[in-house]
Amino acid sequence: MYPRSFKDSNGDGEGDLAGVISQLDYVKALGVDAIWLSPFYTSPNNDGGYDVANPRDVDPRFGSISDAEALIEATHARGLRIIVDIVPNHFSTEHQWFKEAINSLPGSKARNRFHFYDGRGANGEIPPNNWCSIFGGSAWTRIKELDGTAGQWYLHLFDSTQADLNWENNEVRLDFEKTLRFWLDKGVDGFRIDVAHGLVKEEILTDHRDPEGLTRALRLDVSDMSRVDRESLLSDVPFFDREGVHEIYRHWRKIFDSYPGQRMSVAEAWVHPSSRATRYVRSDELHQIFNFDFLIAEWDADFLKTAINKTLREVSAVDAPATWVLCNHDSPRLVTRLGGGEQGRRKARAMALLTHALPGGIYIFQGEELGLEDAAIPDERRQDPVFFRTHGADKGRDGARVPIPWSAGLPHFGFTSGEPWLPMPAAWESLAVSSQDTSDSYLALYRKSIAMRRDLFNTHSNTSKDDTSKDDTPKDDTPKDDTPKDDTPKDDTPKDDTPKDDVPKELEISWIETPHGVLAFRRGDHFILYSNVTDNELDIALSEADSDFAQVLASSPEARVQGNAVHLPAHSTLWLSRTKFTS
Ligand code: GLC
Repeated sequence: MYPRSFKDSNGDGEGDLAGVISQLDYVKALGVDAIWLSPFYTSPNNDGGYDVANPRDVDPRFGSISDAEALIEATHARGLRIIVDIVPNHFSTEHQWFKEAINSLPGSKARNRFHFYDGRGANGEIPPNNWCSIFGGSAWTRIKELDGTAGQWYLHLFDSTQADLNWENNEVRLDFEKTLRFWLDKGVDGFRIDVAHGLVKEEILTDHRDPEGLTRALRLDVSDMSRVDRESLLSDVPFFDREGVHEIYRHWRKIFDSYPGQRMSVAEAWVHPSSRATRYVRSDELHQIFNFDFLIAEWDADFLKTAINKTLREVSAVDAPATWVLCNHDSPRLVTRLGGGEQGRRKARAMALLTHALPGGIYIFQGEELGLEDAAIPDERRQDPVFFRTHGADKGRDGARVPIPWSAGLPHFGFTSGEPWLPMPAAWESLAVSSQDTSDSYLALYRKSIAMRRDLFNTHSNTSKDDTSKDDTPKDDTPKDDTPKDDTPKDDTPKDDTPKDDVPKELEISWIETPHGVLAFRRGDHFILYSNVTDNELDIALSEADSDFAQVLASSPEARVQGNAVHLPAHSTLWLSRTKFTS
């Protein structure tokens, strides 16, 4: 959930926590187990709240601490869990620590909480190294010292108002521990850890061979870079995925485990090769890590199959669940990424049904379930620092962050009674929640697939569908294994088509042989999926042994079982189940 764009309760044009509470029944009806909210903490909002000035308070634009408490309670009252964001890589330059730092001398305790260095060149006018900000421009900004002279530089991997913290400094560690406990004490069920792989920096005074290329490679909204170029640049990033981050998460894990209930953590750590991601979810570290393979994937059978095999093999090596992400607040929306319009929507429905049948956790970005596309935004309304720091060369992420259309017919589709902070396309009338109350809508498909997924694969949260009672202390029935698993990153090349080796039963899928461009797999003995990723209509015979399978869900109305075959129109996915499982 991107709360600024979810629902506005007070007419200021921006979503807020009271707005989220007002729509929790909608969220519950979608069938999800939990919500994750991006930051709502005190912030000047130069980067959508990821520039945190006080992580233990709520920004007035979102409400107050008591609204946050009410939200936690209202979420639990509906049998949902709530995950909040934590942003440990940087603080806003409005944070009291940064203000102290610039009002102190070089080498002081206050400066040591960040990365302040002298510049190079005769007068220190050249930044300490050539790193670029991921949002464009230099990763260093020079301050004025107290005597008015040009002074030291501070590191910011993102906007210049997001100063990177020095995790070698114990005060930084203690302060984050305090923040974790603050929200855990308030009852949150877990954290999404922003830039989790970035906390520890190495070779900070060493130049990079291609700093501009590197930062573009690191951005999910940049799509004009070849996969080969991207992978070569991402293979070694001096400020990401350093060994030291793991010690921090081992410590955090102990904090999570010291609280009742299964408090959880999910890392935003886009690391390369992806096999290194599993190191964040070893049994004594974090619980989940976002898998970004599908976030950049085309609707391409070979790529998807390889990504699925690789992911399942990798996570099973550390006994962690897989995760699947089709969209988030940093990337173009799925429908847009797959070409937009009716064709994009058709592919997106098929890709969503494929994803929803996979073992593990699914993260859905608000509006994805409505089939929204990125909105066109006039440059003068853009707010993303990426747009400004690249001088408009990259448009940034605002297109995916446009507020949710709730009610067709109401001004701004009922999102706000004021002026929305980003303009909402008039064409969204038919995509508004109120317009999707039909059984064949995009929203209905998401509701059905999420509900069926629970029944078919026995995915579970601690609260069943019908249980609306508060359950604060879910039981942990999985024995804890404190021994860190093998550190060695596993080889990336799929050994075998079907990732059976070492994959526990519940993670197992087995591929069915199909013509090129078609994906088909079984889960257990009662579920089969077919995805037609080609431009052609296809009929594929079912084996005799599968003749008692019937269709349970289809991404397009023409996909169906016909006699002893499955009929698959172009870009469609069909779920089949044995008769005893179909309702
Ligand atoms: C993460 C967030 C993104 C933010 C960045 C800097 O990638 O998802 O929105 O801009 O971190 O905090």
